[in-house]
Amino acid sequence: MDPLETGQKFSLRQDLDLDPSLQFLPAPDAKKLEKRAVRHRKLWVAAGLVSAAAGLSLLTGMLVWRFHLHRDGAPKRIYVGSMSIGNQSFLPAYEDPGSEPFVKMATLVSQQLKVIYDTKAPLGKYFQRSSVEAFSDGGGDSVTAYYRSEFSVPASQQASADTAARSLQTAAGSPQSRRGRVLLKPQRWLKVDAVVTRAIDPRMTSPSLLVKKSFDVHVREGGVIRSPGFPDSSYPSNIFLQWRLRADAAHRVRLDFQTLILEDNCQHDFVRIYDSLAPIEENTIAEHCGLPRRSLSFVSSGNVMLLTLVTNEEKNFPGFVANFSQVSLAPPDCGGTLSGDVGVFSSPYFPSSYPPQTLCVWNIQASTCYSPLGLGDQSFQVSKGKLVKVKFSKFYVGNDSSDCSRDYVDVNGRRLCGAKDARTAVASRSNRMTVKFNSDCSYVHQGFSAAFEAFIPSDSCPGKFRCTNGLCADSRLRCDGVDDCGDASDEEDCRACSPNAFHCRNGHCVSRATVCDGRDDCADGSDELKCEKSVAMTTCPDSSFRCGNGRCLDKVNPECDGQEDCEDASDEEACECGLRPYRSSRIVGGEASQEGEWPWQVSLQLAGQGHACGASVLSGRWLLTAAHCVQDKGSLRHSRADQWEALLGQRVLGRANERTVRRKVMRIVAHPDFDRLTFDNDVALMELDSDVPLNQHIWPICLPSPAHRFPAGQEAWITGWGAGREGGVAGSILQKARVRIIDSSPCNRVMNDEVTDGMMCAGVLEGGVDACQGDSGGPLSVVSPSGRVFLAGVVSWGDGCARGNKPGIYARVTRYRGWIREHSGL
Ligand code: ARG
Repeated sequence: MDPLETGQKFSLRQDLDLDPSLQFLPAPDAKKLEKRAVRHRKLWVAAGLVSAAAGLSLLTGMLVWRFHLHRDGAPKRIYVGSMSIGNQSFLPAYEDPGSEPFVKMATLVSQQLKVIYDTKAPLGKYFQRSSVEAFSDGGGDSVTAYYRSEFSVPASQQASADTAARSLQTAAGSPQSRRGRVLLKPQRWLKVDAVVTRAIDPRMTSPSLLVKKSFDVHVREGGVIRSPGFPDSSYPSNIFLQWRLRADAAHRVRLDFQTLILEDNCQHDFVRIYDSLAPIEENTIAEHCGLPRRSLSFVSSGNVMLLTLVTNEEKNFPGFVANFSQVSLAPPDCGGTLSGDVGVFSSPYFPSSYPPQTLCVWNIQASTCYSPLGLGDQSFQVSKGKLVKVKFSKFYVGNDSSDCSRDYVDVNGRRLCGAKDARTAVASRSNRMTVKFNSDCSYVHQGFSAAFEAFIPSDSCPGKFRCTNGLCADSRLRCDGVDDCGDASDEEDCRACSPNAFHCRNGHCVSRATVCDGRDDCADGSDELKCEKSVAMTTCPDSSFRCGNGRCLDKVNPECDGQEDCEDASDEEACECGLRPYRSSRIVGGEASQEGEWPWQVSLQLAGQGHACGASVLSGRWLLTAAHCVQDKGSLRHSRADQWEALLGQRVLGRANERTVRRKVMRIVAHPDFDRLTFDNDVALMELDSDVPLNQHIWPICLPSPAHRFPAGQEAWITGWGAGREGGVAGSILQKARVRIIDSSPCNRVMNDEVTDGMMCAGVLEGGVDACQGDSGGPLSVVSPSGRVFLAGVVSWGDGCARGNKPGIYARVTRYRGWIREHSGL
């Protein structure tokens, strides 16, 4: 019986929108159970005490055993494992834990396990019970069983018990006969080919886990797995869920995540994927939390895969949705002979992650002779033949280690591993090259994509520039200020540089963006000469993103999108922003928001007056609001920091709770060019007097780079406690409303040309939906395709509220990105 499926049911917490099929189970160690469970626990503890006094009757002994009270007070240690059984063939009924064949086989396996543990002193002594949780088809006439075994191991003995468990793998076989301890009748004998038993990840047996649930899924027809509540609400706290995925024999399981957004700390919330049906550490394919940077697609080595989701109490995020399917066992692109002068190859299933336990060998063979193009002197080199060069355009294989002993690519005997940039190349000394790809049994990565090319040694870069490191670069990229070779040799010895590049005295070209940045990019200091205070850093064209190394990217909105686009990964830095626990998605025409839906929303309160303006959380210390909120009006000194207080983590104004954080404002930096008449440059920064701890109710919104595009028609959200209608009064529940970005030219036509470049329009042209008095300074939030939320605008002004053909006007945040960095360092 599956211990996850048994036990009492507790009612669900009302505020959790949980799948009703989920069960609450007594936690193994009932210390931190919810109040409701306390009564039950006390009963059992009392029962345990009474029964101990009564001399441990059989009944109470069973209860104690059943509810995991510990023998001798020794802590319970749970091992998980798999056993491959050679003399049994797989029956379909083994996929159903309720079926008779399952129960029979499970009993045999449990008995066998006991025999095996008895051969190892520390294990036999402390063994309590085993339960078989699943079977899978081991191929041929074999079955794999997955089990959990409980031991009651004194703390001082844990290490030796773990060692004994680890040594079981080799001691398998048929221990009962070898040791002369025939405990099982011959017809019950299982031919054990291998057992793996390991201590379970402690995060999976934490006493605070309130829900434990398993799902059995056959992936033949394909389908979707969602974390509970996705995408309307965040996943619940304190859950352990596992999905056992099985494919047909001679197939693999494939799992592709479309979205995965968890808390950023893997000690708190994480998904783990195993190349097994039991959560055995050595078979971990991957562990993820936060918003992972690379694509999350996995393929198993055999016909099973286990997906687990574990969450703790704090900070719940949207969760995940993933597609499953099965693929045939033979990978489509694993090794073979490659001939010809050019070609491409990649790791199996690229761009999905490669499967564990895979070896592929490619033999590349370039033709030995070539027809000399240039004739003349070169033709005598025919006898030498061509050489082969392999270039990796993507390379993520295992972790970088000195010996590349786990996952690696071996090119003519040289091992490569880790993450390499797109300029990694290896050349051969003959017309042949052998490329091997190897993955071990755990932790996979995306793999590689490679191209090979035969070349004539004297002319290794036909029509191209030959870098000092042997790579060939497009000749048009020479002297453009960007290092295309990887050793910058394409930027040396330049007579002149392209317009975006600076010509160093030593003849190098460097990006103009690096001039006067305080670093000696030329290597002769010439880019740091003549740097007056006012010299503006040269930037990228308006439409492109500027990487930390000065490179300009043409990709639309590359920042924090989960893909590293800059070589220095600067587009994915400082991305602790814009995620929120609720993903579903006083404002006029809006509706009440949910708890935690807009964790960057701030209420700015004037001393003695209460709510006056909105603001957005940029970090634990900085807020962004509207400059017009902090202007003195007659005797009202709104420009003074001591007049303000910021209320964070709030949804219902006036109802402070344990999530509410109140902070004094230490400093206000209003934009110096704010124009009281036109409302141009309506932005102001506020620095809080001390850092606010970030959590699921208080979280920064992402600042868009200057090049970030918010195209007309894009959906955006406005939020605030402002007036519910023109001339109306402020509300107490944070309101949200959906609007769309409106292009400035048509907007200007209806707004009497009052919309400047520092403003943007958003609204609903039919009217009825808008920001209003009291919403000023608050965010105009845009959800990016990756799920992160960006601050597109700051509520600034409007002609009345929610009138037809009168959109709301917002400060255009991209315009002020540089100014924000200058004054806040963010
Ligand atoms: N200036 C107003 C305030 O201080 C906000 C105006 C927004 N108006 C609008 N129709 N969108 O709260």
